[in-house]
Amino acid sequence: SDNPYDLVVIGGGPGGYVCAIRAAQLGMKVACVDMRKSLGGTCLNVGCIPSKALLHSTHLFAQAKHEAADHGIKISGAVRPDLPAMMARKDAVVKANTEGIAYLFKKHRIDWISGMGRIDHPGEVGVALHDGGDMTLITDSIVLATGSETAPLPDVSVDGRMIVDSTGALSLSKVPKHLTVIGAGVIGLELGSVWSRLGAKVTVVEYLDHILPHMDGEVRRQTQRILKKQGLEFRLSSKVTAAKKTTKGVTLTVEPAGGGESENVVSDAVLVAIGRVPHSLGLGLDKNGIERTERGFIKVNERYETTAKGIYAIGDVIGGMMLAHKAEEEGVAVAEILAGQAGHVNYDAIPSVVYTWPEIAAVGKTEEQLKAAGTDYKVGSFPFTANGRARAQNDTDGFVKILADARTDRVLGCHIIGPSAGDLIQEVVVGMEFGASAEDLFRSSHAHPQLGESIKEAALAVHGRPLHM
Ligand code: FAD
Ligand code: NAI
Repeated sequence: SDNPYDLVVIGGGPGGYVCAIRAAQLGMKVACVDMRKSLGGTCLNVGCIPSKALLHSTHLFAQAKHEAADHGIKISGAVRPDLPAMMARKDAVVKANTEGIAYLFKKHRIDWISGMGRIDHPGEVGVALHDGGDMTLITDSIVLATGSETAPLPDVSVDGRMIVDSTGALSLSKVPKHLTVIGAGVIGLELGSVWSRLGAKVTVVEYLDHILPHMDGEVRRQTQRILKKQGLEFRLSSKVTAAKKTTKGVTLTVEPAGGGESENVVSDAVLVAIGRVPHSLGLGLDKNGIERTERGFIKVNERYETTAKGIYAIGDVIGGMMLAHKAEEEGVAVAEILAGQAGHVNYDAIPSVVYTWPEIAAVGKTEEQLKAAGTDYKVGSFPFTANGRARAQNDTDGFVKILADARTDRVLGCHIIGPSAGDLIQEVVVGMEFGASAEDLFRSSHAHPQLGESIKEAALAVHGRPLHM
């Protein structure tokens, strides 16, 4: 068309920036609008990347402190964290990654527009520029990839100092003596682990009677046992009904979820991590006829079209699994759809990983889901205590569990708690993409001695014949 742009993407996170790159590869003239000072969205700036930087640093610290002796390593003097240095390293990692996206944009001739975007009309994106002023971008298509933000907890408002959300918890200036985490989900357990490893007493308050909702039950129970051993304290079936700030810290009123006598929990920092909600304020959804679901996510069809013509949406803002790689897949799919190709995402084979240590990883159905659906399935499990490499590494906590269709042997799900679980699950993801059976997995040669042999053994266990158990 004669428009200056074929595509304007609002939001430069994993959904938006990947969509922009793929569209440019397919020959489109693309602009990407983001209101942050750096590209990469939540994930690179205040999500996946900084959290993994701190998780890795604190994991090394915990190993030096608790495991060096087991390996025959003597450390003279105390092993101590240098928090400012740790934070500076994390910031440098973030900077390198976000600058990497800016480089990729240059390489693909994508215009990065720094400012707050909105839809003025279909085909017209207005931007309140960071450096002042306003501009209008005329385009054939618009993709909304505006992401999500922390769900607020009424009565416990985030002040960024004593009561923080994940962003605040990624840059506390000192290790709290006692950190209370509200919500035993992914953020609560990852950032709870970070501060617990650095010496904080960590109490996790969770509304449900279990941690990590949506994960396989056996994995959840073992995770809780292991994290408890590492020092995290759990208060399940509990709700926070009030927060009072004092000079010493925050006093939370905690009550049984079903009602009953309340108790005070005093801590010097509180992390609110009860989920994330779509971010679409000021985008101009209503006036352009873009509908939302009851929970505020932008409604799309299987081609990622919103209810307004020429306007698409992807990533956290449309809901589903709120994960960076899910947003990326959707970004690629929508760019390919715009180019007249058959963009598609297989939602049955998207892995999810929790980066505690041991890690937790899952793909496909849980046992609970298979039971509820009345599916006839077989289970094969294998513990890392029986894996040679895990023993060599001193990392024997956890297991691999594979679920396969009882009749066809097709792999329906895999659940791992164990060392490097997030890397290990990938072979099962690829297998599931190709419709693999448990037999396909165990007939594939696995290098020895590797942690991944546990996957082979779990697949063998589906057939009742593991070799090393
Ligand atoms: P976002 O990354 O949220 O990007 C949206 C961008 O759009 C933002 O930069 C926002 O500022 C911008 N924006 C919004 N509105 C406008 C507007 N009107 N104009 C201009 N710009 C706008 N996922 C994983 O897969 N693995 C992990 O390890 C992981 N760790 C996480 C850790 C934390 C602490 C958090 C908070 C999240 C984590 N996530 C992780 C989730 C992951 O960050 C999100 O799923 C992912 O960022 C979603 O990508 P997105 O492109 O949809 O949105
Ligand atoms: P979450 O949905 O994972 O967990 C929130 C927890 O809070 C749930 O267990 C829920 O039952 C509980 N909860 C809700 N209301 C509560 C209340 N009032 N009191 C006590 N508990 C309450 O959400 P979280 O941890 O905030 O993370 C948000 C999203 O970010 C995740 O869903 C995930 O998609 C993404 N994320 C992904 C990561 C990864 O892939 N490794 C890491 C961090 C975040």
